[in-house]
Amino acid sequence: LAFSQSSNDKFIQCLSQNSDPVFTQNNTQFLSVLQSTIVNLRFSASTTPKPLAIITPLTYAHVQSVVTCSKNFGYRVRIRSGGHDYAGLSYSSHDQVPFVVLDLQKLRSINIDSSKKTAWVESGATIGELYYWVSQNNKNLGFPAGICPTLGVGGHLSGGGFGTLVRKYGLAADNVVDARIIDANGKILDRKAMGEDLFWAIRGGGGGSFGIVVAWKVNLVNVPDKVTVFSVSKTLEQGGSDLFNKWQSIGSKLSKDLFIRVIILPGSTGGGDTSVLRDRKPEARRYFNAKSDYVKAPIPKERLQDIWNWMLEDDNPILIMEPHGGRMDEIGETSTPYPHRKGYLYNIQYFQNWENSDASDKHISWMRRMYTNMTPYVSKNPRSTYVNYRDLDLGENKNANNTSYSEAAMQWGSKYFGNNFRKLALVKGVVDPQNFFYFEQSIPPLKA
Ligand code: FDA
Repeated sequence: LAFSQSSNDKFIQCLSQNSDPVFTQNNTQFLSVLQSTIVNLRFSASTTPKPLAIITPLTYAHVQSVVTCSKNFGYRVRIRSGGHDYAGLSYSSHDQVPFVVLDLQKLRSINIDSSKKTAWVESGATIGELYYWVSQNNKNLGFPAGICPTLGVGGHLSGGGFGTLVRKYGLAADNVVDARIIDANGKILDRKAMGEDLFWAIRGGGGGSFGIVVAWKVNLVNVPDKVTVFSVSKTLEQGGSDLFNKWQSIGSKLSKDLFIRVIILPGSTGGGDTSVLRDRKPEARRYFNAKSDYVKAPIPKERLQDIWNWMLEDDNPILIMEPHGGRMDEIGETSTPYPHRKGYLYNIQYFQNWENSDASDKHISWMRRMYTNMTPYVSKNPRSTYVNYRDLDLGENKNANNTSYSEAAMQWGSKYFGNNFRKLALVKGVVDPQNFFYFEQSIPPLKA
């Protein structure tokens, strides 16, 4: 397909047939809408590929017409809910095919039925908004999902989603009971219409491969009147390594009511009141980079000092370690695409952020060294990684017509999804055999 100015114009005309906003590159609001939910400044540079247009639909019918126009004209769609994708894939593309961003930020209604302990939430809502309105409706109900309030429901639930309630109630995706998706044919399907295989795939198979999930029905969970939050800080001189070592073996075995995570960092963190949940206010935007691992056997105590020394080779790296166990041990490895269940002690996120783009190369190469150094201490065959902490260093698809299942499985598929990768690819082969929902790490279609 050749993309000329006139085909671009006809495509934009097709997109604009609805009354909902379409921001083309010459619209004065284009950049501010594009940047409105970008959290990683690495993908906000002038060199980052820009979409031909951003569409912020108000209705599902408009989402459907974006799919049909894009399919008919041969353009790509990037789906964005909260914009927190680590590699910026919800609003940029490395592919040669021009693309538009379908930004769901205006589709963000939340309907709570506290008598049935369920809620329908649209993908463009943030998880903070969900927490806030659930707590306003009934302070003894909650929802188990991530910690940062500005995460979009759409991307977050698509990749699993865990936070402080993970040991008690599992992943956000484990608590989804229905959904509405717009598929590659522009059809809107609920759980019954999409069937159990696709419904399985969208609850942890990573966002963007199967269709546009516009809304989710979730089970709300009981929370007590009082939740106790505590923080214990220890330096290495105060026995930090011993404490960490102890935590490694008990963090995932304690009562499900306890979630104790470890953050290894140079400074301290602050608090805030509950209005931060509701306010859709992004944290200060910075450049950042991350990778993740899972640990199945405690890292030998005598090796911990090596890890702390490697951290000193960069300016401000942070290691965030979150225990599994509890409810996570009870949910089977194939129940959802997220396979890191029984036997996983904790997850490690290596995270760096910085203020100046000149420092990017230095930080990124430190991270790669750190990841290599950690090889002996983390899960193996495959080395497990969390799809919501997307990492393009693991590998990328080549192009939509040439995505190899076996290469993808070897490079990143089995790391994110273990043995579930094959089923994800088979589902993709049925629901999107032409690979319309293609991106750098989309699931490749596999024929049965
Ligand atoms: P974004 O809109 O960028 O989408 C992410 C991916 O999903 C993209 O591929 C996109 O195309 C696709 N997608 C988005 N909406 C979709 C939809 N409606 N239908 C289909 N596909 C869709 N994770 C965690 O588990 N626990 C945590 O505590 C945190 N904390 C955290 C803090 C910060 C600061 C960041 C940047 C990230 C996290 N995360 C996290 C990771 C987070 O879960 C992950 O980045 C999610 O994909 C973010 O979802 P958004 O909708 O915000 O992203």
